[in-house]
Amino acid sequence: MTTFEKTNELSLDPTDWDALRALGHRMLDDMLDFQATVRERAPWQPVPAEIKQALQAVPPEQPRDAADVYADFQATILPYPLGNIHPRFWGWVIGTGDPVSVLAELLAATMNPNLGGGEHVANYVELQVIDWFTALLGFPPEASGLLVSGGSMANLVGLAVGRNVRAGFDLRKEGLAAAPRQLVFYASEETHSSNIKAAELLGLGSDALRLIPVNDAFEIDLAALQAAIAADKAAGLQPFAIIGHAGTVNTGATDDLDALADLAAQEGLWFHVDGAFGALAALAPGLRDRVKGMERADSLAFDLHKWIGVPIEAGCVLIRREEDHRQAFATTATYLTHGDRGTASGAVWFGEYGPQLSRGFRALKVWMAFHTHGVSAYRQVIQQNVDQAAYLSARVDSAPEMERLAPTALNIVCFRYNPGHLDEARLNALNQELLIRLQERGIAVPSGTVVHGHYAIRVANVNHRSRREDFDTLAKAVIDLGRELIAES
Ligand SMILES: Cc1ncc(COP(=O)(O)O)c(C=O)c1O
Repeated sequence: MTTFEKTNELSLDPTDWDALRALGHRMLDDMLDFQATVRERAPWQPVPAEIKQALQAVPPEQPRDAADVYADFQATILPYPLGNIHPRFWGWVIGTGDPVSVLAELLAATMNPNLGGGEHVANYVELQVIDWFTALLGFPPEASGLLVSGGSMANLVGLAVGRNVRAGFDLRKEGLAAAPRQLVFYASEETHSSNIKAAELLGLGSDALRLIPVNDAFEIDLAALQAAIAADKAAGLQPFAIIGHAGTVNTGATDDLDALADLAAQEGLWFHVDGAFGALAALAPGLRDRVKGMERADSLAFDLHKWIGVPIEAGCVLIRREEDHRQAFATTATYLTHGDRGTASGAVWFGEYGPQLSRGFRALKVWMAFHTHGVSAYRQVIQQNVDQAAYLSARVDSAPEMERLAPTALNIVCFRYNPGHLDEARLNALNQELLIRLQERGIAVPSGTVVHGHYAIRVANVNHRSRREDFDTLAKAVIDLGRELIAES
């Protein structure tokens, strides 16, 4: 006769659901307040040394009340964000997040599905979101797509597909060692570092990504590109792809994408467009023409956590021919066999479109945000951000002590404080210090870059919370701090 022992099995569910419910409601209220009052706080403040110290503790062995842990969060974590949900955050290109998709993150995490494959509704939500972007960005309806962590991963996936398709041999099986000729590809010298990283990760090496000079508008120099392709072919190398940019990270410039599509077709190359933020300009009727030609790409990478404003992480890659996409990533394994019925059925297995098998429900926040705001809201916000960048540019241009350092092609403004009598080295040092003071004093968070060798304060505006008055505040602060720095020196 079998005896059944009494065991002491543990679940991670609460023993007191009512207490957790009360805490959850409090958290929700606090987080909504945190977002609603963000304008009243400084965008950024440094993390105090004692908090960094406290975050180097050993793993806690014993349980604590979740309410106490939440109190720690409120005291030590919540007050020190990067600041990108603030209306005066314009650093790098980081989205702001919107409250409805914050709530969607809770719903997605509660369902906690795995979008690697199988038959369940979350996969259909992702398919829906991809279909929306396919249509909005002018891709053919039969194109495939994948939600990924962000633009870097979207570039990697798009370029991996392009490399495999254009290699001319079974690269997945034989590896790059079997390449009869060295594979090379092309982007402007303004390309984002993620494309260089992709060259490294794809085993091509960063030298294989030829960085082509740009013209005065920071767009790829087409004659130089053609010459580079011809020189590589003459040297016995194998060009396989061109990367075009819809919005470069430094200045927001967009390459002549139609010309690049023509050239790629003529040379038999894969055409990848990095449109991390710029691709979304196509949503605004007044801006659509600026990214014309993007819809001809073989692969298109863009972010949803930048100009679509859902919380980080969310990016997307579209691949013109689904078969190319699947062939780059599909695997066979007995434990992943698809069925006709049951949970292992399902039309699309997203795990076959990218490197990740287990994948989260990123699609829900996009689905919910789109239904809540409507595409019309994005059309308006994107146009608004571009108009605000033009407004700031005009303010800079009309102020004798400020100087713009690049054309404002879209939503990025590069400029500096320049009183007119400092040499280049002093101007660079002054503007670096000025930027840090803007941040440390909690005024605003632009970031810095170098344009044509000049250090620039760079405002990249994908912020649905910014208002014109925020750019007035910035412009005034730059002049005040510039004068302060001159007085100090
Ligand atoms: C043009 C461009 N490409 C790629 C990326 C990388 O995107 P992510 O930071 O989402 O990985 C960025 C980020 O700013 C970008 O501006």
